[in-house]
Amino acid sequence: MDREARLRRALLTRGPAWPAPLEWRGSLSSTNDVLKAKARLGTPEWAGVLADTQTGGRGREGRAWASPPGGLYLSVLLRPRFEQVGLVPLAAGVVVAEVAGEYGVEARVKWPNDVLVRGRKLAGVLTESSSSSRGVDWVVVGVGVNVAVDQASLGPLAETATSLHLEADRPPAVEDVAAGVLARLSVWYDALEGRPSQVVDAWRARAVPWWGQPAQVRTTQGVLRGTLRDVDETGALLVDREEGGVQRVLSGEVTQLRPTGPDSRDT
Ligand code: BTN
Repeated sequence: MDREARLRRALLTRGPAWPAPLEWRGSLSSTNDVLKAKARLGTPEWAGVLADTQTGGRGREGRAWASPPGGLYLSVLLRPRFEQVGLVPLAAGVVVAEVAGEYGVEARVKWPNDVLVRGRKLAGVLTESSSSSRGVDWVVVGVGVNVAVDQASLGPLAETATSLHLEADRPPAVEDVAAGVLARLSVWYDALEGRPSQVVDAWRARAVPWWGQPAQVRTTQGVLRGTLRDVDETGALLVDREEGGVQRVLSGEVTQLRPTGPDSRDT
């Protein structure tokens, strides 16, 4: 049975048949790029693209995403009809942390959607969207999870990365992790439509406990220093600035300034 068939079978153990095409390729540039091209051609909501490896995997803030064999590289298409599209990345982080939990791995989310285990990066999420005068037309949710990636193949990133195979008591198959991510995302999607505050609450409950601690946030406008206060109902990060006042941050990279404890390793 090929990977696509194993994925569909794993999805069936979690709910109804998946409602859209799922394409699992050997190697491609980036699952996000391939799915974005399909989105522009009108492919339906919940269509997915997966790959064994990516040659041009992309991360947040213009970084590359190392994509050796053994990882999950998955992109899924949403065509949201709800307002709070800014919460999709947070929901995706919660989803991956939940799936890690199914394998006995306690994962935490770092704003906006890094997934860490003992301070090491397990997974990342890159969401990309397209809008028109009608609002947001589509969102591609790209998820990369180190499932069984050989640490040595990550080069210098191995220092700050971990994998489900290193952390879990029963190491999962990539197809099963993919099915978990898709199935849990569809559950949280319903919450995004009807009860978005539940998504924020779930995210807070799994966040690294950095609230009230000094941090630096690198944004496109510059570097901001202060203490981390909370996230608001749209998913923006609230920072009490060193020089006074609260700053709402929509996108950026958070670094803890005086790290303490196992969730504190900077990534
Ligand atoms: C990050 O932490 O910077 C986000 C990483 C997101 C990587 C995934 S892998 C599947 C999808 N395709 C990509 O090119 N990127 C995302």
